[in-house]
Amino acid sequence: MSDALPFESPVAEQLGPTGRPLPVFPEPARLSTHGPARVVALCNQKGGVGKTTTTISLGAALAELGRKVLLVDFDPQGSLSVGLGLNPNEIELGTYQLLMDQGITFDDVVVKTNVDGVDLLPANIDLSAAEIQLVHEVGREQVLTSKLQPVLDRYDVILIDCQPSLGLLTVNALTASDGVIIPLECEYFALRGVALLKDTIEKVRSRLNPKLTIDGLLGTMYDGRTLHSREVMETLVSGWGDTVFHTVIRRTVKFSDATVVGEPITAYASTSTGADSYRQLAKEVLARWQRGA
Ligand SMILES: Nc1ncnc2c1ncn2[C@@H]1O[C@H](COP(=O)(O)OP(=O)(O)O)[C@@H](O)[C@H]1O
Ligand SMILES: [Mg+2]
Repeated sequence: MSDALPFESPVAEQLGPTGRPLPVFPEPARLSTHGPARVVALCNQKGGVGKTTTTISLGAALAELGRKVLLVDFDPQGSLSVGLGLNPNEIELGTYQLLMDQGITFDDVVVKTNVDGVDLLPANIDLSAAEIQLVHEVGREQVLTSKLQPVLDRYDVILIDCQPSLGLLTVNALTASDGVIIPLECEYFALRGVALLKDTIEKVRSRLNPKLTIDGLLGTMYDGRTLHSREVMETLVSGWGDTVFHTVIRRTVKFSDATVVGEPITAYASTSTGADSYRQLAKEVLARWQRGA
């Protein structure tokens, strides 16, 4: 009698959580020079889907790979700044002042973070006024673009953490970007808003920024033990195909714990699955960008 178990099939492909064979992402080349940066907006008008967590964790994982990273807090809630250990009440100069005050330059606002290779343009509730004030500005959609332009050569990647709306701040972020990463919580209603977001991205592409592309859709808060999570990923892949990242971020409390101490997961819980998933995502996005996705 054979002692081989029936489910051990040597020819079975290893399927990832998205139901597709999981590729091995190449080890990215080390860089000897830096820039010009690829600018990427983390965007979804729904709140609580993992935009801020992805901005911090992907930024830190890219920095571990030797990339020079700038994170832009573009949400008046300031969660990105808090997640990197800043006190919102102590931020005197942030993205609001950079956008609205002609006399303020990038160097007045940028701060180093505790993460090697990661700089931050912080924000706090001040930024909420920008949405209304920008309406009256000349070239109101291009204000962030003009502020980032002079520093593109200093960084390899600039990640913009958008607020949960499709207003003028988000349009500024999309106008300044080469690509968009859309984090989506793995639950049934997650797919509802994506069509509207896609419309906005297409309008920005045709009217303001022809180079804008969707870099990828990222499943977050995935729970592989539930049929529910797996079905959401399958639906996503059947509608969007390879635009969906192979990397999926599992649900774990480690992310909220990391926020409390103001560190990215790659530092707070360096050997956790959450940290590893974002390291894998960093390799996956670098491979996509190289192909000019
Ligand atoms: N993979 C995850 N597993 C569990 N909790 C998560 C995960 N990603 C994010 N969170 C938590 O969910 C909440 C919302 O995430 P956040 O990144 O702030 O979303 P957004 O920026 O889209 O509003 C935060 O408390 C965060 O710590
Ligand atoms: Mg956020």
